[in-house]
Amino acid sequence: MTVSPAVPQHLAIIMDGNGRWANNRGLPRVVGHRRGVDRIHPLALACACRGIRYLTLYAFSTENWSRPRAEVSALLRLLGTMIDEEARTCLRDNIRLRLVGSVERLSPTLQEKVSAAIALNSENTGLTLCLAFDYGTRAEIVRAARLLAAAETRPDAVTEDAVARNLFTAGSPDVDLLVRCGGEMRLSNFLMWQAAYAELYFTDVLWPDFGEDALDAALVAFASRNRRFGGLEQGGRA
Ligand code: IPE
Ligand code: IPE
Ligand code: MG
Repeated sequence: MTVSPAVPQHLAIIMDGNGRWANNRGLPRVVGHRRGVDRIHPLALACACRGIRYLTLYAFSTENWSRPRAEVSALLRLLGTMIDEEARTCLRDNIRLRLVGSVERLSPTLQEKVSAAIALNSENTGLTLCLAFDYGTRAEIVRAARLLAAAETRPDAVTEDAVARNLFTAGSPDVDLLVRCGGEMRLSNFLMWQAAYAELYFTDVLWPDFGEDALDAALVAFASRNRRFGGLEQGGRA
């Protein structure tokens, strides 16, 4: 039997359910987003302790710009405070910080904060924490195609490796386990290239409640999966 390694090298999480978490308590949605942000660093530490090397978190999709302006502004403000906090705590905890997604629609001040936080933590050697902000796979693939076209790449040089090298996630391994919390069973434009052979795990737990127990439940499920990557089980008959 083909057995998965016990722990995924790359875990990706769709951090969904902040709004419902707040609604359930009669609180404004933004309180749920704040609580969700507070979950990020403890979860990154828990992942590092369990031997996970890459954690990619979906924080804001290319489609999330269509939310009411007040909510988008609140999310951008939260990114600003969160990135300052993460810059310090990642340095303390040896976590390498990356951003996957476009920074072009962020204000110059926010762009500077993000670049400074990433630069400060780029040499850390522990877990790589990738924050997916203004991220969507379709936009990412269009961007990669444009980069390849602008480099006047010959058609036969457009390989899977060449595309992967031009994605925001270049240099990160493929996703092994993709978790979506909040009860929906869809990918919402998240890492659809990188998760081509990821194990999928859906849970009703809302992101602000997603702690070590929920993480361990996902990891137990992962460890029981039989990954074949299109091949046959080891020992399977031809
Ligand atoms: C996820 O929580 C965070 C973002 C998409 C920014 P939601 O805001 O989608 O929360 P629900 O799904 O409405 O509960
Ligand atoms: C996915 O959640 C995006 C993030 C968690 C950042 P959404 O709440 O935006 O997804 P849909 O709209 O339910 O598909
Ligand atoms: Mg949602």
